[in-house]
Amino acid sequence: MSLKNSADRWDGVSQLFHWVIVALLLVMAYLGLTMTDLPNSAHKAKVYALHKSIGLAILALAALRLLWRLHAGRPRELAMPRWQQRMATLTHAVLYALLFALPLSGWVVNSASGFPLRWFGLVRVPAIAPRDAALNALSKEVHDVLFWTLAVVVLVHATAAVWHHVVQRDATLARMLPRRWLRLRSPTEDAPHA
Ligand code: HEM
Ligand code: HEM
Repeated sequence: MSLKNSADRWDGVSQLFHWVIVALLLVMAYLGLTMTDLPNSAHKAKVYALHKSIGLAILALAALRLLWRLHAGRPRELAMPRWQQRMATLTHAVLYALLFALPLSGWVVNSASGFPLRWFGLVRVPAIAPRDAALNALSKEVHDVLFWTLAVVVLVHATAAVWHHVVQRDATLARMLPRRWLRLRSPTEDAPHA
């Protein structure tokens, strides 16, 4: 059996990348939005370190995911109006770009602050920018704006996926989920075989 996408659905590897990254982003949003208000303490330093380590893991997963996407391709496009296809392609491209830009901007924040960083306490992470207070302040702004941009784009993207499932009643959402979770609503898989 091939690991790659069939014509009808996303393969298990693509699904795993998609949903693991979604789950990690939720954790990151929670950590990011709560950690800055914590009182200075060893606990705060640990939460920051965890935020940075998970963020760098997302960067690595995004790179692996993109490589897998280039290797495995995607299922065929479902029948829908041309503008919806274009919107989906555009949204997906923006999401991929943000999956790189957001953690990279965080990495710049950390580098510009001159704070030493070990990935999950194990591997020393090099700085990707010079220690610089102005750059630190600017990259914090950028990190914040990119996060809220991602939040808005994800909201549009997830609403579209649910709308396709509930209103259009097509296979868009089902084919990004394990076979048993949601039945495909495409004539190819749902139709009884004669
Ligand atoms: C995709 C992954 C990431 C997400 C979703 C994310 C999200 C966030 C959010 C929501 C905040 C709070 C922003 C604010 O209130 O101003 C934040 C702050 C921060 N993030 Fe990230 N982040 C990610 C990756 C990273 C990475 C990889 C690093 C460093 C290696 C990092 C370092 C920081 C730092 C140092 C702050 C605190 C900035 C400040 O003090 O204002 N982040 N992040
Ligand atoms: C939280 C962050 C999310 C990110 C970063 C994200 C990212 C992406 C990307 C980049 C793709 C395109 C895959 C490719 O062409 O390789 C995609 C597809 C998809 N996503 Fe998400 N997604 C997120 C959340 C969600 C949520 C919450 C849902 C459902 C409620 C969802 C449902 C889907 C579906 C159904 C597809 C397949 C669309 C198709 O077959 O054309 N995603 N996602």
